[in-house]
Amino acid sequence: MKIFSKTLCLLALSYAAASCCQTSQTNVPVYLDEEQPLEIRVEDALSRMTLEEKVKILHAQSKFSSAGVPRLGIPELWATDGPHGIRAEVFWDEWEQAGWTNDSIVAFPALTALAATWNEDMSALYGKSIGEEARFREKDVLLGPGVNIYRTPLNGRNFEYMGEDPYLASKMVVPYVQEVQKNGVAVCVKHYALNNQETNRHFYDVVVDDRALYEIYLPAFKAAVREGGAWSIMGAYNYYKGQHACHNEYLLNDILKGEWGFDGVVISDWGGAHDTDEAITNGLDLEFGTWTDGLTMGATNGYDAYYLADPYLKRLREGSATEEVLNEKVRRVLRLIFRTAMNTDKPFGSLCSPEHYDAARTIAAEGIVLLKNENDVLPVDLSSVKKIAVIGENAVKIMTVGGGSSSLKAQHECTPVEGLLAAVGDKAEIVYERGYVGDVTDIFDGVATGQDLSESRSEDQLIADAVKLAESADVVLFFGGLNKAACQDCEGSDRFGLELPYAQDKLIKAISKVNDNLAVIIISGNAVAMPWVNDVNAIVEAWYSGSQAGHAIADVIFGKVNPSGKLPFTFPVKLTDNGAHALDAYDREDLSVEYKEGLYVGYRWADKFDVEPLFAFGHGLSYTDFTYGEAKCAKASVKAGADVKVAIDVTNSGKMAGKEVVQLYIRDEESYLERPVKELKGFRKIYLEPGETKTVEFVIEPDMLKFFDDAKHEWVLEKGKFTAYIGASSKDIRSEVSFEVR
Ligand code: BGC
Repeated sequence: MKIFSKTLCLLALSYAAASCCQTSQTNVPVYLDEEQPLEIRVEDALSRMTLEEKVKILHAQSKFSSAGVPRLGIPELWATDGPHGIRAEVFWDEWEQAGWTNDSIVAFPALTALAATWNEDMSALYGKSIGEEARFREKDVLLGPGVNIYRTPLNGRNFEYMGEDPYLASKMVVPYVQEVQKNGVAVCVKHYALNNQETNRHFYDVVVDDRALYEIYLPAFKAAVREGGAWSIMGAYNYYKGQHACHNEYLLNDILKGEWGFDGVVISDWGGAHDTDEAITNGLDLEFGTWTDGLTMGATNGYDAYYLADPYLKRLREGSATEEVLNEKVRRVLRLIFRTAMNTDKPFGSLCSPEHYDAARTIAAEGIVLLKNENDVLPVDLSSVKKIAVIGENAVKIMTVGGGSSSLKAQHECTPVEGLLAAVGDKAEIVYERGYVGDVTDIFDGVATGQDLSESRSEDQLIADAVKLAESADVVLFFGGLNKAACQDCEGSDRFGLELPYAQDKLIKAISKVNDNLAVIIISGNAVAMPWVNDVNAIVEAWYSGSQAGHAIADVIFGKVNPSGKLPFTFPVKLTDNGAHALDAYDREDLSVEYKEGLYVGYRWADKFDVEPLFAFGHGLSYTDFTYGEAKCAKASVKAGADVKVAIDVTNSGKMAGKEVVQLYIRDEESYLERPVKELKGFRKIYLEPGETKTVEFVIEPDMLKFFDDAKHEWVLEKGKFTAYIGASSKDIRSEVSFEVR
């Protein structure tokens, strides 16, 4: 269909070129002349469009496409999920995959894994690679990345986001955006804003103060727009201030388009628009996915019933809607089309290339977090083990299928057990036991895993068989955690608790009793409770790591890669150690969700109330050791408006080369509004050979010291004393130094 309509567009293009006003020198109409400034082209195209054509480009014509203006040679716009790989082609009106044979892709690690690399170069590599795949698949808009803040560990979509800290998420999102867009493919940053849970996602209304909104929930979106230059953004499903986020005056008109000067397109989440008048006035530009009568049955005429389709046209014809507002929306959509579908300068992209597989593996391995490692359980030394027991469903389960709109049709997915087998070869024996039964679903939207995970053994029998194997092995690698089934890590529902499902706690405890040489590898996009934390010597968080998951895990298990990932969110001991839950401010029943914890999200809460986390934000071990010197400040006192420079020496004092993420947190010693104990304001990932020392320098810019005064509605830099903390995690501060802003 797309090829067909592109051909039509080309024909129309030659017609348009011949008949409309032209640039004097080239005989090409102004809007088609890529030499002309973008805004001139947009105005020219706008001036040629009829009212009907203008409305036509503001809503979908299929599940993932919107019509262009064929008469003018302006092509369709094609969107795709996102954010971890390019979604399989679906039928015109349905979610079901269309059964193409050339739409398999490389699955990149989930965004939690990317955030856990704490490495902006990894984000750039990710953006470049996925952008090339999107381009090759002829997509114009990639629905991602997601940067909603990790407010509660129950949120089913946390795996699609970049953790709990606005600074980390802001730094990590920018290179992704920039590199994707170099391919002539727009990102669509989602889900703007305050979509921090899946329960009642279409119905809950967030109540949050402006300080938390501006300091915690918005910065990553702002960075994507202002620094990344994102060309589109997706409105979220939830309400805020009594209006749906997809047509929300405060979020879209005042903040996004007003304060941030966003010149791109606000796209509704699929089915996120609910009202024509609000959609017209409150900032929505392009409507997708609304459920209209007939659409669910596959009829193709439902799109005219969209809020920004015939109902909009009717208001325009009647005069109750103005063409001025319409033109503003059309300009934005035209800008997007010129930047993407009509950009003839873009590269061709590539699909399933060796480079993309390498990128997926590198990013995955760098995101893996070594949470605990006693008695040198890891890395496993293949010269001293004969038998490796691999236990747990997640060792064999395909994880790229499921979880909602981010589900993929990967050309290949290497499971943990396959990765281990490939790395071990004939150096040792690997024996597998399932241990527990989790999710046996083998299909999502028509994409099948090809796995039959049915099981007839009882829970007790499965545990007994696993224990028997563990007793006989030199080392045990347990793979568990969550999966992409409903109420796990999955769009559309939240988890019911922090605990591991499927009796895994019982199983892990039983195995730990018979073998000390046990490493528990958690595959998840969320924190989980670990009541067995003291019974187990090694614990690893390996996330959903995409096509190369198994190879990346094996790289870390056997020490080919020295782990360097750090947690992008806090692992609490129990649910009530998290602010939202401590204050009972996450409610499955109440549709008004009040963010009572305000600024105190993640480690900010743990710091304020001295709550000992299970594993802290920023935590992650290495197979080597890093020694920190003394933090030094170039000038102990600076004038307001000047940069502050802080430096520290870090030495690899162990025996293996490795990478460390050196983290800078800042505390405002006194301020007229209460501030968190400390906040992340810098990080650097450095590589050190054994014995090597590097000086890490941080430049603290004035903006990084500001807080948002909600009464004045402005960012404030207050003079006075500040402390810079430098450490290996939010709980592991190695040195501090004070400075004063005069
Ligand atoms: C999701 C979006 C997704 C869209 C299209 C929605 O249900 O919330 O994240 O991009 O569907 O698949």
